[in-house]
Amino acid sequence: MFISMPRLFLLVGLFAAAARAESGRDAWLRYAPLDEPSASHARAEVPAAVVSFGDSPVLASARDELLRGVRGMLGRTLRVESALPHENAIVIGTIESLHAAAPDLNPSAPLAEDAFRIRTVAAGNLHYTVIAGGNPRGALYGVFTYLRKLALAEPVTALDEHQEPYVPVRWVNEWDRLDGSIERGYGGASLFFENGAVRADLTRAGEYARLLASLGINGCSVNNVNADPRVLSPDLLPGLARIAAAFRPWGVRLAIAVDFGSPKSIGGLDTFDPLDERVAAWWKARAGDIYRAIPDFAGIVLKADSEGRVGPSTYNRTHADAANVVARALAPHGGVLFYRGFVYDHHMDWRNPKNDRARAAYDNFKPLDGKFDSNIAIQIKNGPIDFQVREPASPLFGALEHTNQGIELQITQEYFGQARHLVFLAPYWKNTLDFDMRVNGAATPVKALVSGKVFHRPWGGFVGVSNVGLDDNWTGNHFSQANLYAFGRLAWNPDLTSRRIAEEWTRLTFGNNPKVIETITGMLLESWPMYEDYTGPLGLQTLTEITGTHFGPAVEASERNGWGQWHNADEHGVGMDRTVATGTGYTGQYPPEVERMYESLATCPDDLLLFMHHVPYTYKLHSGKTVIQYLYDAHYRGAETAADFVRRWQSLEPFIDNRRFSEALAQLEFQAGHAQEWRDSVVSWFLKTSAIADDKGRAGHYPGRVEAESMKLDGYVTTEAHPWETASGGLAVTCPAQQCSAVWRFDGAAGWYTIRVRYFDLPMGVAHFRLLVGPQVVAEWDADDHLPARKIDGSSSTRRVLTGIALRPGDEIRVEGTPGGADRAAFDYIELEAHPK
Ligand code: GCU
Repeated sequence: MFISMPRLFLLVGLFAAAARAESGRDAWLRYAPLDEPSASHARAEVPAAVVSFGDSPVLASARDELLRGVRGMLGRTLRVESALPHENAIVIGTIESLHAAAPDLNPSAPLAEDAFRIRTVAAGNLHYTVIAGGNPRGALYGVFTYLRKLALAEPVTALDEHQEPYVPVRWVNEWDRLDGSIERGYGGASLFFENGAVRADLTRAGEYARLLASLGINGCSVNNVNADPRVLSPDLLPGLARIAAAFRPWGVRLAIAVDFGSPKSIGGLDTFDPLDERVAAWWKARAGDIYRAIPDFAGIVLKADSEGRVGPSTYNRTHADAANVVARALAPHGGVLFYRGFVYDHHMDWRNPKNDRARAAYDNFKPLDGKFDSNIAIQIKNGPIDFQVREPASPLFGALEHTNQGIELQITQEYFGQARHLVFLAPYWKNTLDFDMRVNGAATPVKALVSGKVFHRPWGGFVGVSNVGLDDNWTGNHFSQANLYAFGRLAWNPDLTSRRIAEEWTRLTFGNNPKVIETITGMLLESWPMYEDYTGPLGLQTLTEITGTHFGPAVEASERNGWGQWHNADEHGVGMDRTVATGTGYTGQYPPEVERMYESLATCPDDLLLFMHHVPYTYKLHSGKTVIQYLYDAHYRGAETAADFVRRWQSLEPFIDNRRFSEALAQLEFQAGHAQEWRDSVVSWFLKTSAIADDKGRAGHYPGRVEAESMKLDGYVTTEAHPWETASGGLAVTCPAQQCSAVWRFDGAAGWYTIRVRYFDLPMGVAHFRLLVGPQVVAEWDADDHLPARKIDGSSSTRRVLTGIALRPGDEIRVEGTPGGADRAAFDYIELEAHPK
């Protein structure tokens, strides 16, 4: 922890927090009033006047943001001056504008693009806080940094701080469709599009640009990489120009994703062959149109020959041919092209043990190294598969010596519990960014490779697949905002620690109370290992429904299909053999030192063991534990931590405003229940498949659990879950009638109990449940959650927890279900737990 606050003032914060209700829309830019000691300290330090030199709209945003932040945090409105005042002041400008307007302040030497310097300059008995940018964006980033310091209660006198971005290109990719939906979006509808057109009201797009700018993100590609060709139609261009205008005051430049078949599908040509002159001319003409409407257009993202998208293979051309034809249209205007490295065959023959999707990016792009124009970067996902819960760093990062690269990180939590699970991704990303690829036997962390520093490339980029939508809190789950924050901070400076980022975000989002900081930071930092524990540890990858929702457990969904996310678990063992010696040869794509580490069982880290090797369940890890026992233990540990998160969050009730407190609590309660479902599904599957018992006797034994199918059913019928492991005992009950019930006679000891009802909540209707003890209704609820589910399985499985229920031997416990629409009020079991005496 880097700052602590006197506990004395806890109480003040306590009442202030509980009184407010916040939606989360202000995210980390709340500028909430500082606690009084920090505020009075800051009031003494912050000058009363501000002057900004230069007439760019970005500089105007910088000045207005400063006013807004100081007003919010200190309750003071800075006086805006038009010339350097004869009093202490904050002075904002570019190096150039400051040289022209206030040379006496001795603005520093030239600064790089987007860089800034904040200095306290003494002039006689006056002090000026000079926020100088290498360009207007740099000045804006300097102001956000100054305000962040204030919000974190850091000193703002005697400053001399120079920051410059780690890479010049820092973009987010939105996967928004023109109809307003978002691929893998969990935070509501698109900020940009509706009904095939750009939204009339772009207020939120402008607010989003402000959030992005506060992190130093300077580009945003607004539509899905599975691009709709209409994005290049003349009709859409005025709308795109309006988005660019909403972004512009914040220094965020617009980009788009395009479909490679566009010259043919909307361009009227009979080909999209990249070597055809007419095709090249078509791309040039479209780029010309775009730049006439949007002079600061940033560039294009292109997904080709991947997952059914057309690409250069149609004409037997290479990815370099495809990238160059588009990039050459952008080059005269200064635009860049991100060509996605996510190219693989999704109809791969799973019977061939040498086939391996993990090899694809390297196999496709390594031979083309050096053939891409200099305004192109290959956009490479962090791992070789697809944002799985744990992956090694993609070997392609170490292999492109003559080609620019960008790293693609997925902010939206597609394989990470979507917006329903708290999973803070900074540690996961840092795991890749800090991974030492040992190129040419030297220290070469992935971040340095990406930046272009290692191979002296002109530029490199960080790209985040974003997680925002029109939901009040942007991301569907308050905690998911932390991932957008972390992406931006790491794109600016990947050397920041996860802890630093987690603490900053917590303080900016929930305030400076030490208990709040400690609790939330702790949860954030533990959340990825926890999620890994209850989904897919040891390099198994996220054991989810990979052909469907990507949400709930489905251990075999990855197997026996062409998608190539195989883990090869069967009754004998588990894991993909990717070694050179006996497997797919994937480890050979790494530089020799890394290859040796992964190739040998003796040195392969446990957390990637099953990604690299196929081993028997009894294989002993470095810790001495067997693989199977680790799988059991990890799942129990992960689910327990998730349950503990609920208790930890509850302890913060006095310090957090009501709305965010209760919304986050509901999410964490869901997560705890879903973690239990994950645990039971994965553990049941491995128990049955391996036929090896859990040393600790937990797997397959569920004390207090009463299976629905074993209750006395009236109307309810026994139903199989698919896959079987997602319902306890493989079976659930569903109600084909108007109303059904299931009854069970309690014969345990009298006392207070918690009763958990596990049921299946399908989005196709709203079923109604009642729980009765004897004649008394002790709870009733609607199954009206919005789960990404289609059937009775681990994506629809959820639970209702009722505490403090008095039971006596002989009591009849009855679950009554009333279907609503296609939701047949299915349930899995009830579970009884006696309260501790
Ligand atoms: C994942 C994701 C797709 C997406 C693809 C991509 O496979 O599930 O929705 O289109 O990645 O990155 O292109």
